Order: sequence, then C-alpha cells, then structure tokens
Amino acid sequence: MNLTLRLPGSFLAIATMASAQTMHDRSDIFQPLATPARLVSEVSTLTIVICLSVFVVVASLLAYAVIRFGWREGDSANEPPQVYGSNQVEIAWTVIPILIVFVLSMATARITSAVQNQKIPKDALYVTVIGHQWWWEFQYPDLKITTANELHVPLSTIALPKLTSLTLKSADVSHGFWVPSLAGKTDVIPNRTNNMWIDPQETGTYLGNCSEYCGTQHAKMEVRVVVDTPEDFQKWVKQQQAQTAAAPADVNQQAFLGTPCIVCHTVNGTSAMGTVGPDLTHLMSRATLIAAEIPNNAANLRDWIKDPQHMKPGNKMPTVPMTDAQLDQVVAYLVTLK
Ligand code: CUA
Repeated sequence: MNLTLRLPGSFLAIATMASAQTMHDRSDIFQPLATPARLVSEVSTLTIVICLSVFVVVASLLAYAVIRFGWREGDSANEPPQVYGSNQVEIAWTVIPILIVFVLSMATARITSAVQNQKIPKDALYVTVIGHQWWWEFQYPDLKITTANELHVPLSTIALPKLTSLTLKSADVSHGFWVPSLAGKTDVIPNRTNNMWIDPQETGTYLGNCSEYCGTQHAKMEVRVVVDTPEDFQKWVKQQQAQTAAAPADVNQQAFLGTPCIVCHTVNGTSAMGTVGPDLTHLMSRATLIAAEIPNNAANLRDWIKDPQHMKPGNKMPTVPMTDAQLDQVVAYLVTLK
C-alpha cells in the first residue's frame, strides 16, 4: 500500500547499506588494530604454526611408512617381525608433546597477563558497557553520555596514546563482548563486573558481535565501534551532550510523549525517561538500528516501530498500537533527534 513511500526508502536503504558495508571491513582477528588484539593474534599465529608443523611431520611420516613399507607383490604373507617397547621412542613421543604444550601455555599466559596487568592511565576514557537482550548500552560516566550499539572511542597513536577502559556488565543474561580487530572476547555476566581495554590504532568503524549465546536473537546483537580522531571524538562528545528541549508547540514531540514508548526510552530533557530500551536522545547520530542490523533512516525506523517482532522476533519491544498518522508523527519527531 505504501509503495510510493517505501520505494525511495528501500533505495536509500540499499545506498546506505553499500556505504555501511565498506565500514565493516575491520573485523578480522588476523588484522589486529589494537594492542590486545595484536597479542591475541600473535599467540594464535604461534599456535597455528606449531600445530601445522606437528601435522606436517606426522602426516609425512605416516605417508612415508605407508608407501615405503606397504605390502608388495612377492612379499611374504607372514606377519612382519613384532617390536615391543622402545625406551627411546616412548621418551621421544612423551617429551616432545609436553614441551609443545609447555611452550603454548607459557605463550598464552604471557599475553593473558600482559593484557590483564595493563595499568590503566589516569587520562583513560572510561565506558561502561551493558549487555541487554539484544543490544548494547554504552555509558560514559565522566562525560554524562548514554548511547547504544555504536561505541565511539578516540584514536590512540604513539605520539598521543589514549586508552579506553571498558567496564562490562549485564542487565539480564550472559553475553560476550567481542570486536575481533580490537581485543579478545570478554564475557559479560549478570551480577559480575568484568574489565577490558582497547587502544585502537586506526580510525574507522569496527564490527563486532555478542560472542555468547544469549537467546533467540543472539546473532542480531552486533556492536559497532567507531574510532574517531581526537578532534572528531570531541565533536561527537559535544553533540551527545547537547540537551533536547521540551517543545510544547511541537505536535510531533507531543505525539511521541503521548505514546507508551516513553516508559522504556529516554529522550533527555523531556518526560521520556525509561531505561529498558536504548536511549533515544541522539538517535539519529547512530548509523544503524536494531543493534547494527539495518541502516538508520526514516523508512526503516517506521517499519521497525510498526512491527518490531517481525524484524527481530522475541525482542522486548512491543508493538504500540498507532494509527498511520500517529506513526508518521512519531517518526517525524524521532528523525529530529540528531
Ligand atoms: Cu548477547 Cu549473545
């Protein structure tokens, strides 16, 4: 029915997705762009090299034995001479694996302690990450910012190191915070606080995902980390700190504030003060919706609000009964939240 309205929307969606796709290139454990990820990558590479060498040696010996000593035409049909017990061989195949395991566990222990024992400098940026079914909440306690699904952090360079310290908490079940190019996985566990840190060395958008099964929409719990230059980060902070004024004359705002949406969502400076769902104060500053699943634009926003269970079945957002006109007003208001 809304063909004329939906068509430009979907073209826009495709265009935005195309540009969003190029931003998804940073999610490779073998392309580490922060110290914790680099250490994980080093120990992974070492493990792979050692395991591959073991495989090559064992497979070559096996192939050699099969080819060289296999049964041939004219061989006797009797059993070959049986050999029982050889101290040298048994010592060799006991000691070598123990040495390999020892080297691998030492290397793992070294990188684990290097990541865990990192001193967090005083000027670090502190962010509290809260896992929800199925989205991420980011609170910047020192900056008084709350946002969702897109974590903005400053670039860290040798000349200007800037570490971001993440405090991980869960609002419901166990989740896992994993952005492969930045750091290893860290569990996000109810009633427990975990910590990790990152020092991203390239600007851009990094893609990650919840790494622990947390319910039906676990796969749709993506996270995007946007690494900004220090100047861009300051700009972002200013924008996020700007207040939304209550505007009694704005009919669209009044329409929104009249919906049950405000029970779960916050728009700073208005009567919307819910904390169950993502903070909407600067909704349009985010590039994506539904935990980084679809591009954030008016058409997708409208589709999402109209029937949240269709796009992400089982999520906590109910369908709020609204007429098309009311829905248009609510969307018209939401797109002003920049
Ligand atoms: Cu959250 Cu899986």
